[in-house]
Amino acid sequence: MARVFSGIQPSGEMHIGNWLGAIQNWVALQDAHDALYCIVDQHAITGSYDPASLASRTREMAISLLAAGLDPERSPLYVQSHVPEHTELAWLLTSVTPLGELERMTQFKDKSQRTESIPAGLLSYPILMAADILLYRAERVPVGDDQLQHLELAREIARRWNATFASDAPVFPEPQPILTTASRIMGLDGEAKMSKSLGNTVGVTESPEAIWQKLRPAKTDPARQTKRDPGTPEICNLYALHRHFSPAETVEHVAEQCRTAGWGCIDCKRVLSDNMAAALAPIRERSAELTASPERVDAILADGATRARRLAQETMLVVRERMGFLREG
Ligand code: TYM
Repeated sequence: MARVFSGIQPSGEMHIGNWLGAIQNWVALQDAHDALYCIVDQHAITGSYDPASLASRTREMAISLLAAGLDPERSPLYVQSHVPEHTELAWLLTSVTPLGELERMTQFKDKSQRTESIPAGLLSYPILMAADILLYRAERVPVGDDQLQHLELAREIARRWNATFASDAPVFPEPQPILTTASRIMGLDGEAKMSKSLGNTVGVTESPEAIWQKLRPAKTDPARQTKRDPGTPEICNLYALHRHFSPAETVEHVAEQCRTAGWGCIDCKRVLSDNMAAALAPIRERSAELTASPERVDAILADGATRARRLAQETMLVVRERMGFLREG
């Protein structure tokens, strides 16, 4: 079975962009793959963050992942900082990563523009991400499309490392992305990708009332100033969400009502809100159960780290040997 790896930052609640763009694939791939999933807390310190809440956010992300359907028996779920080989490999990979490639990354360019003093970690972030994947020699990586450039760099790093240290027998496969049909979900502002830092999200564990409060003011087709103005569903952000949360006949009906101005946007939002709340209800319920037993969640993460570490150590033996380090006596 092909090895699958992916990670998510514990930088806030899991939102429907994460869920539709990546996590649904994490869950689906468990069936026919040898998968490992990681909460990447060390990536979450590359921008300013609150140390007092990092641990609780990490546990909450684990709860959301389990509630979304990850089965920790089949796919180890663990925390990046519990497996120190991630940062060791990241350091070793810095030796084959061109600086120019790091500076070219669009996420680095975006984020560094918004920061006065740029932490070196923001620049080397994709090396740690490459290490996460290569440590398990993963071949497939389910992600949203904002991670494609990082993954391309991970392939480049794998190629260079193999060429430099293992040209006779490559150690690292070149990891390929796996996308869902919703690889870029827009935020409720209709202007940017859904992202916690932009405050334009719907969390997967939000209550039906909270979902409604967020959808009600959400941006729609600007041509629809009043209920009588016909709209173009294809350019409406909420129509895009209907496609992921509503049954096909509803999606068709919504489009028709929009084009003919039969419904106002508020009618369309009400139906979307109900369907979204219904789709997320099982996650919300399981998440409440798991929140009530944090010790169970911590035990799952500890077991995941033990199993992941065993694999990580196997890779590191080969990597250290190939790179010529003196073996510990
Ligand atoms: P992160 O934590 O930002 O997001 C987790 C996953 O959710 C996807 N995603 C989206 N998909 C569609 N629409 C959106 N609006 C949206 N927002 C987020 C992301 O593409 C991602 O798949 N660098 C990574 C974490 C990481 C990682 C790794 C991923 C670290 N090491 C190794 C894969 C393999 C990140 O910050 O994802």
